[in-house]
Amino acid sequence: MRQIYFGFTHCPDICPDELDKLSAAIDILQQKQPHSIRPIFVSVDPARDTPPILATYLSEFHPAIQGLTGSWSQIKEMCRQYRVYFSTPKDVQPGLIKEDYLVDHSIYFYVMDPEGDFVECIGRQDTPESAAGIVLEHIKDWRREGKSIDKTPLPYLSSKVSGEVAKGARVARAPS
Ligand code: NI
Repeated sequence: MRQIYFGFTHCPDICPDELDKLSAAIDILQQKQPHSIRPIFVSVDPARDTPPILATYLSEFHPAIQGLTGSWSQIKEMCRQYRVYFSTPKDVQPGLIKEDYLVDHSIYFYVMDPEGDFVECIGRQDTPESAAGIVLEHIKDWRREGKSIDKTPLPYLSSKVSGEVAKGARVARAPS
């Protein structure tokens, strides 16, 4: 199962809140269905969110979250397919960012089954528990249909749960 979120690292409050929720949901899922979730964050601000910036930012939430970025056109096309709205200007040149801008964007987690089909949205109203519950239900449904789930252990998925800091991962943020 994949949980896909579209956001940007300069987001002042919504993305951090949603990523905290995702992080807590990952830990619940990791305890109940180890290694069955693949969390992905897609940047809708590719000019500023370079791969190193994304990696650093996401590791502060949960080391298992994989960051994806690309050209503006690639992001636009992916968002079109997921029906995600975002307002990032097209003509921002990477590395030449002087102005500060905010990106208005859709706020959903898209739960995708192991064959890449959309199954359900997780929204802002969901808690870590309800978000994990939605994914667990779909894992159960999937199994009931006799289908398999890739549970290849991913580095970092369990690093936070076990209290170990995986090689290359950063320590999780201190509780505020
Ligand atoms: Ni945001």
